[in-house]
Amino acid sequence: MKKVKLSIVILGFVLVLVSCGKVEGQGSATQWQSYSGDQVVERKVDSLLNLMTLEEKIGQMNQYSGNFATTGEVADTKSGEYLKKGMIGSTFNVFGADHLRMLQEQNLKHSRLKIPMLFAADVIHGLETTFPIPLAEACSWDLELMKKSARIAAEEATASGVAWNFAPMIDIARDPRWGRVMEGAGEDVYYGTQVARARVRGFQGIEDYTDLAKPNTMMACAKHFVGYGAAQAGRDYHSVDMSDRTLHEIYLPPFKAAVDEGVASFMTSFNDLNGVPCTGNQYLFQEILRDRWNFGGMVLTDYTAIMEMVPHGFARDLKHASELAIDAGIDMDMISEGFVTHLKSLVEEGKVSEAQIDVAVSRILEMKFLLGLFDDPYRYCDAEREKEVVMNPEHLKVAREAAQRSIVLLKNEYSVLPLKKEETKRVALIGPFVKERESLNGEWAIKGDRSKSVTLMEGLEEKYEDSGVTFTYAQGTPLPVIDRSTQKVSTTEVPDKSGFAKAVEIAENSDVILVAMGEKFHWSGEAASRTDITLPGNQRELLKELKKTGKPIVLVLFNGRPLDLSWEEKNVDAIVEAWFPGIMAGHAVADVLSGDYNPSGKLVMTFPRNVGQIPIFYNVKNTGRPFDENNPTDYKSFYIDSPNTPLYPFGYGLSYTSFEYANAKISSDQLERGGSITASVEVTNTGDMDGEEVVQLYIHDKVGTVVRPVKELKGFKKINLKKGETKTVEFTIDEETLKMYNIDMEWVAETGEFEAWLAASSSDESNHLEFSLVE
Ligand code: NOJ
Repeated sequence: MKKVKLSIVILGFVLVLVSCGKVEGQGSATQWQSYSGDQVVERKVDSLLNLMTLEEKIGQMNQYSGNFATTGEVADTKSGEYLKKGMIGSTFNVFGADHLRMLQEQNLKHSRLKIPMLFAADVIHGLETTFPIPLAEACSWDLELMKKSARIAAEEATASGVAWNFAPMIDIARDPRWGRVMEGAGEDVYYGTQVARARVRGFQGIEDYTDLAKPNTMMACAKHFVGYGAAQAGRDYHSVDMSDRTLHEIYLPPFKAAVDEGVASFMTSFNDLNGVPCTGNQYLFQEILRDRWNFGGMVLTDYTAIMEMVPHGFARDLKHASELAIDAGIDMDMISEGFVTHLKSLVEEGKVSEAQIDVAVSRILEMKFLLGLFDDPYRYCDAEREKEVVMNPEHLKVAREAAQRSIVLLKNEYSVLPLKKEETKRVALIGPFVKERESLNGEWAIKGDRSKSVTLMEGLEEKYEDSGVTFTYAQGTPLPVIDRSTQKVSTTEVPDKSGFAKAVEIAENSDVILVAMGEKFHWSGEAASRTDITLPGNQRELLKELKKTGKPIVLVLFNGRPLDLSWEEKNVDAIVEAWFPGIMAGHAVADVLSGDYNPSGKLVMTFPRNVGQIPIFYNVKNTGRPFDENNPTDYKSFYIDSPNTPLYPFGYGLSYTSFEYANAKISSDQLERGGSITASVEVTNTGDMDGEEVVQLYIHDKVGTVVRPVKELKGFKKINLKKGETKTVEFTIDEETLKMYNIDMEWVAETGEFEAWLAASSSDESNHLEFSLVE
């Protein structure tokens, strides 16, 4: 320890000396535009760079994984060997203040210039305090809450040594077959940009400005750049082919928002975009990210993405792939060992210049300086703080609140919910999720201890203790388990019907049947695409048997993607979409079922009626032959075997109370350029409970130089209304609200007519307004 500290002091002295005169020429970072714009930091980076050998520089561009969560082939790793040469810039998926202190000590022992290692991780929805999966949390439409949970994740992660988070995932996702929809904020571009901003602010601890040097702030990473969510047929890692217009209108904006918010890093996407793998894509990283958006932060590849350019058929071998990656502007290689193995010879052969390497290394070193790692390489390894912060009771409270607010009530016929203690005495608790614990955190709960999650059964027992309500349990059917590598349903877990009889028997002796079903957690997430998005196994079959009892059925769902619930919608009385709610799952669901919390979530992804409708999203274009459900005629754009409309639209979600929208008004039907108008609507809580409503503004540009979507979300407000209370909700509309890419791909608002809806969901058209943008 002492030796290390002494070396750091010596290094600091050398840096001061060298920074007095910036050395120009070979080896200096002539192309580098820093992230921070801080000249002192820039001088420190240049000085250190000038002391480094080529090998040492290349070592900084090399990242390995710890033992947690390998998400692909483990490269032929020589991590031990490189560690001894001080040639590992970063390690990810390693945790724990003491453990990382030890790793850092090892690194510093071998690093000639005492360059600290940067520890990273996928802290996607909390570290140990596990929040709902991001898709669920996005259904809260509560940006402050999302920022807060990201902040808590960062508090816990930084206390356990991690200063760089591979989150937020901000891929727009419109295909529920794709398992990774669970990691993002759903299908909408406007909403996606707002959530991206909130999460970046939360992780990086941004108040007025970014101060990464605080011991509780961390670098966020905008991923995956770009188009990953548009994988063909919803199959993970599949090709992406889209127009430049779709790329710019739909898929890029959340990333641009992240840059505007100050995100410190980007991760490449696995897919090819229009034939060019993203990891070797100069158009994306050089032209868009660096040149147009002036992004000065770091870019790292996704897991083995450099070596994957070989099977893509874009690179001849790893060496060629490494050349393509650095040419695209990639700074750090996750796992492939392409940079560390081949960059030196590529420089010697004149295929890559040392200046290119200097630029990449400058970006990496800048982040290490900004994080304060050179001042104290152990600043994130504080075992005391770790004990205090991780799973702090205050964090658990927020996790419960986040889970409550993420839940979406999809159906509630005859107000069967909430389950009133006075009226409901005997509850049959049926289904594989009543006692399921392991899945409740969902995927990417990397350090979340699955044994600590509260089951539905536990949540209900606590909630209804001494209330006179009795719960009788039968699993009914198990959850099928898939062996992911063979894609076989495990033979020991093949769902059978042997539990049906007992389930039906207890159902018959109940006042209400509460059924908890869903998908096992690893049925969504990475490499977890499905072609059939109904409830897996025998779950629907069991529901059919329960239906025969004639008792009211409440279905609570735990899953990571929109499901095909067409049968369930027709046949059960209430549906509660709980997603994967995280560590406080059982409590939060019990809060909602009992009515102690009135559900307020709304969907951020459309639920289709069947897989055939996919991709399905609300902001489609009209076509020349739009189908009118109210006036159906032939040879229109429809299916002969399914309606066009979804089962549940984007923005939809019920409450235990009811809301009425009235008196929609616009302050003027003429909007002048540079001016603004206000659209408003009165919302009244007409039911018997206090509640919250998400009021949404949608706009349609009626005629454009290019066809515009039938409507686009342009604003939302989540309001709290006491029973009987009315509030006026206002939205400002200005030129900025109306901007789009015109026929020449210019970002402009076009003069002409618009219509707007102030709505409870994307399919609510009752409060309609019209206005024009005039010169
Ligand atoms: C692969 C995933 O695509 C990416 O999101 C994640 O950050 C890395 N694995 C590291 O775990």
